[in-house]
Amino acid sequence: MTNDEQASPASAPRGWREATKTALYGPGGFYLRPEGPAGHFRTSVHASPLYADAVARLLCRLDDVLGRPGELAFVDMGAGRGELTSGVLAALPADVAARVRAYAVERAERPAGLDPRVEWRAAPPAGVTGLLFANEWLDNVPLDVAEVAADGTARRVLVRGDGAESLGGPVDGRDARWLARWWPLGDEPGLRAEIGHPRDEAWAAAVAALERGLAVAVDYAHLKGARPPYGTLTGFRAGRETAPVPDGSCDITAHVALDACAAEGAVLLTQRAALGALGVSGGRPPLALASSDPAAYVRALARAGEAAELTAPGGLGDFRWLLQPVGVPEPPLAP
Ligand SMILES: C[S@@+](CC[C@H](N)C(=O)[O-])C[C@H]1O[C@@H](n2cnc3c(N)ncnc32)[C@H](O)[C@@H]1O
Repeated sequence: MTNDEQASPASAPRGWREATKTALYGPGGFYLRPEGPAGHFRTSVHASPLYADAVARLLCRLDDVLGRPGELAFVDMGAGRGELTSGVLAALPADVAARVRAYAVERAERPAGLDPRVEWRAAPPAGVTGLLFANEWLDNVPLDVAEVAADGTARRVLVRGDGAESLGGPVDGRDARWLARWWPLGDEPGLRAEIGHPRDEAWAAAVAALERGLAVAVDYAHLKGARPPYGTLTGFRAGRETAPVPDGSCDITAHVALDACAAEGAVLLTQRAALGALGVSGGRPPLALASSDPAAYVRALARAGEAAELTAPGGLGDFRWLLQPVGVPEPPLAP
């Protein structure tokens, strides 16, 4: 692909938020390409159908809490190519599936051949009752970056189309207030932080789509007191981590300050704990099954391998789930 419409290497330096917006979602942008996210990296959704099964179980538990409404929404926020929505629809018991209205919210075009029951939209529906689920969406909401300059002040990082960075003016206003509250920088030159308020606002707007129900954001995250000192801005292309170059050729992503997104009543869990509560664990099947039903044993072993990947320490298991109840007392994680 040529990126004529993207910033040229010599283009004027811009903040990372503006540059990322164009690189990911502008004309020729990374996320509008036909291969979709699965062409470049593997999310939990792609790792195993056990993930969609667990989300379907969560939707069923929520359905009970909501008193089995006549219409139960499932909103897949940042849906990629609709893989999670399709998986959830396939995993639901018939009596629940018959009442579910499934929405895939995505900036890219509707993929050919998607289940016709899925409504493909550019923005979440308003006033629905049910589950809004955002898997690896917030890390792709573009942000500005701050860096401590030689004089000890926090400056906005500017970037050209070829990825070359320079320091701009001092961080001020809303950006400075967000950093002071959520990601205070010391005065050691080189310290960096991603300024997260656009994600807090994007998440609050998505949660506001729900009249009643549960909103869940899942992402690689960090919490106050343990922020990464140099930030996490990076790129991905064709399965490999790469330098973040805002020319439309790679993903540009940064871990999410999920605690800053949380509103009152929210629960934050590791993916390992959340999936454990939804019945996914990586335990091996009993050896006795190998002799009584070898085929079932092999299937169970494969499932255990996939569950282990979804819950692995140092991997997907360390992702965080932010569960935000809306008009219900608490996230229905207990069976
Ligand atoms: C990392 S991918 C995750 C895809 C899928 N949820 C998964 O887990 O496999 C992030 C997706 O969010 C979409 N996205 C980003 N911002 C969006 C927005 N404001 N509205 C809808 N989709 C958005 C991108 O186009 C991209 O497909």
